[in-house]
Amino acid sequence: MTKKTIVCVVGARPNFMKIAPIIKALKKTQEHVSFYLVHTGQHYDQAMKASFFQQLDIPEPDIDLEVGSGSHSEQTAHIMLRFEPVLDKVKPCAVLVVGDVNSTVACGLVAVKKAIPVIHVEAGLRSHDRQMPEEINRVLTDQISDTLFTTERSAHEHLLKEGIESRRIHFVGNVMIDTLRANLEHAIAFTETLKNYDKAQPVKVGEYALLTLHRPSNVDDPRTLTRLLLSIAGISRKLPVIFPIHPRTHNQIKQQGLLDVISSPTIIGLPPVGYLQMLGLMQSAKLVLTDSGGLQEETTSLGIPCVTLRENTERPITVEQGTNTIVGTDPEKIQACVDDILTTGGKSGRIPEYWDGKAAERILAEIKRIYL
Ligand code: UD1
Repeated sequence: MTKKTIVCVVGARPNFMKIAPIIKALKKTQEHVSFYLVHTGQHYDQAMKASFFQQLDIPEPDIDLEVGSGSHSEQTAHIMLRFEPVLDKVKPCAVLVVGDVNSTVACGLVAVKKAIPVIHVEAGLRSHDRQMPEEINRVLTDQISDTLFTTERSAHEHLLKEGIESRRIHFVGNVMIDTLRANLEHAIAFTETLKNYDKAQPVKVGEYALLTLHRPSNVDDPRTLTRLLLSIAGISRKLPVIFPIHPRTHNQIKQQGLLDVISSPTIIGLPPVGYLQMLGLMQSAKLVLTDSGGLQEETTSLGIPCVTLRENTERPITVEQGTNTIVGTDPEKIQACVDDILTTGGKSGRIPEYWDGKAAERILAEIKRIYL
């Protein structure tokens, strides 16, 4: 049997946690299939890239397309132009893409136009909000994928409604949770992450909120960003807030002159942190405030209450079974939800089906059956 190659694509921070267990599983079956890892370079700062490769033991990419930042069209177009020659050279039996970032749809589109099957990991999630760039990426990637791996059962229904044949959809669970479970014992204690920050010295385990914000709908509109930060300042009077700040958010806070709003002694702003640091920060938090999809899932897996600062979620299982509450950006609703968690302890939730650390194994079993 000639050995086949699967091209695996990563581009942005959340992709790294998703690809890590898949690469590990592919490595175990190297006598039958090899992989070729492409990093598009959508995220390029050390803090947004290299530390994740090291911590998650992801091999150096075979190629970095170094596309960098730009408008959606620029970024997507540059990825496509630079990815096509890779496929000409490698001639893979399939291209595997994860998640919903611009790199996902760009590489999927190049592959399908060259008649190379596309495998989409984390298919079928829908926020039903077409203002979200990721929602467009999700819908389009699923339409051009041959094999679709899902993390929760609601995804199957969405895909069927959009005309995807059932035989192509496989419910395998959540690779991001594979990574979380594999790394829990290596999580870096929050005290270690905070040790160089004077403001952070009085913060105790279980007595702080962890905040992340990066969605364009929250951070690019000055009024929404101001409202959210004022609301956080209010919360920080009751509970210290630790806030690793995404570069997009940092740029906006600076440009809008909002640094003062987060200058209180009980808001601890940090640069973006690595995966193991984030895990430690989440594990010891009283609650998490976020607009990230990944954190909604990770907090459900950890049993930590999550307050989602968005009007919707593409991950409804985190609300139905997990610890997640969708509150939007209304300061009163945010405050009420935080108060409720402080009084009652919040939702304890349960672990969703197949979020058991074995999703990548299931994916590999299907890939072998279909492609090898
Ligand atoms: C992207 C994804 C989003 C994901 C997020 C995780 C899309 C459409 N969005 O959003 O789904 O949740 O990554 O972080 O793909 N920047 C840096 N250094 C970097 C990367 C970005 O400074 O290494 C700055 C640049 O100013 C850039 C901005 O952040 O313009 C936004 O980066 P971009 O990759 O366009 O989108 P994200 O907001 O990171």
